[in-house]
Amino acid sequence: MIRKISTKQLEVGMFVSDVGRAWFNHPWKTKSKYISDRSEIDELVDFGIEEVYIDTQKTLRPEQTAKLSAKLSAKDFPYKTKTRVPTNLHPNEPTKPDPVSALEQELPKAAKAYNRALDTSKALVAACRMNKRIEVDAVQENVDELVDSVSRNPDALTALIKLRRFDDYTYTHSLNVSVLSISSGKALGLSDPELKILGMGTMFHDLGKCRVPAFILNKPDKLTDEEFVIMKNHAAMSAEIIIEQKLRVDDQVIKVAKHHHERMDGSGYPDHLKGSDIPYLATICGLSDVYDALTSDRCYHKGMLPHDALKFIYGLRGTHFQPEWVDRFVQSVGIYPPGSVVELNSGHIAVVMEVNHKDLLSPLIKLVADPNGQLYPRPKLIDLERQENKSFIIKAVITPKKAGFDPSYYFNIKGEA
Ligand SMILES: [Fe+2]
Ligand SMILES: [Fe+2]
Repeated sequence: MIRKISTKQLEVGMFVSDVGRAWFNHPWKTKSKYISDRSEIDELVDFGIEEVYIDTQKTLRPEQTAKLSAKLSAKDFPYKTKTRVPTNLHPNEPTKPDPVSALEQELPKAAKAYNRALDTSKALVAACRMNKRIEVDAVQENVDELVDSVSRNPDALTALIKLRRFDDYTYTHSLNVSVLSISSGKALGLSDPELKILGMGTMFHDLGKCRVPAFILNKPDKLTDEEFVIMKNHAAMSAEIIIEQKLRVDDQVIKVAKHHHERMDGSGYPDHLKGSDIPYLATICGLSDVYDALTSDRCYHKGMLPHDALKFIYGLRGTHFQPEWVDRFVQSVGIYPPGSVVELNSGHIAVVMEVNHKDLLSPLIKLVADPNGQLYPRPKLIDLERQENKSFIIKAVITPKKAGFDPSYYFNIKGEA
C-alpha cells in the first residue's frame, strides 16, 4: 500500500516508492529505493524534501535490512574505495613565498575570456526575451577564446566556474555548460573546429527557455504533466530560434541545441533518440548540463558538491549515458575540481589547485590551514602524487562556508579589462 509520509518519519528498511520530485531535483540516483542507512534520510532532509511516498508492503524486517546494507555498501561509488596509509602527519612549516602553479598563470587570461563570454551570455538571453537579433559573431569570438584557454590549460576555466558562483544561474548556466563541454571534449580528443561547434551549440542549448513561462522554470515542486510538456519543449525551441533567426552556424550547432536532453536508453526528448543516433556533441552537452544543474545553487535547492554530483552521474552510466563517455567526463572534470576545499587525513585544510588527470585522487593542492584551522600566511603547494612519504591523503570535501574562507583568495583571478 502506497502512503505519503513526512521524510522525518522514514526509517531504515522502508521502501520509498517515489521521492515526489523530478529526477534532477533530488539527491538519489533513482526515485525509488530501500533506505539502507540513516544518511540516505539525511540526504533527503538536506535537499529540502519534506514528504515522500512509501510502499508499506515492502518494508523489510530487521535481519533483511542488515543484509541489504551490507550488499549496498559493497557496490558503492568505485572511485571512493582507493585509500593509502599516511606515514607522516607533521609537515614542516612552509618556507617559499607565494608559490605559483601553471594554472595560476593561465587564470588571468581565462578570467578575461570568461567575463567577456558572461556578458555575451547575458546579451543572448536579453535578445531572445525581446525577440531581437542574436549577434552570432560575438558568441563565436568568445567561444574561440574559451577553446584557446582550454588548449593552454584545461583546468583554469573549470576552476573559474567553480569559484565564481555569484552570478544568476540563468546567465552562468549556458556558459558553464560550454566550458565543461569544451574541456571534456578536449579530453575526448575532439579537434579545435569540433570544439568550436560544441562551444556554440552549448551556448545556445537552452535559448528556448526564454519562451517557457517563469512560473514553470522556477517552480520548486514537481511539475504537472502539462507543465512538463511545456518545459520539455525548450530544447526543440532552442533549435527553432537558431533557424528562425537564420544564424550562420554549422548544422551540428542546431543538433546540439535540439538533442541535449536525449538519453542513451531512449528516455530523453524531443525525439527519444537512442544510443549512437544521438549526435555525440549533444551527449557531451547533456552530461555537462546535468553536472552544472546539480552543482549550482538554485532558488529552491543548494547545489551538490562536485564529488556527489559525479557520483550521481555515475549512477546514470549505461542507462542515460554511454559508460565510456561518463568515465571520460569524470576524468576531465576531476573528482576534486580546482577550487574544492578539502580536509586531509592529518586535519589540515587545503584548496585543490590542479587536477591530476592520471590519478584523480591525487591533485595538486595548496595547504592553507593547520589542523586547528589557523591559516598559513604562505601556503605551500603540494603535489599529492609526488609528495615524499605519501603523507597526505584527502579525507573529505568541505564547503567553503564550513572552512570559513573563500578559496578564490588562493587563485590569481583578476582578468577584468
Ligand atoms: Fe535544457
Ligand atoms: Fe541546460
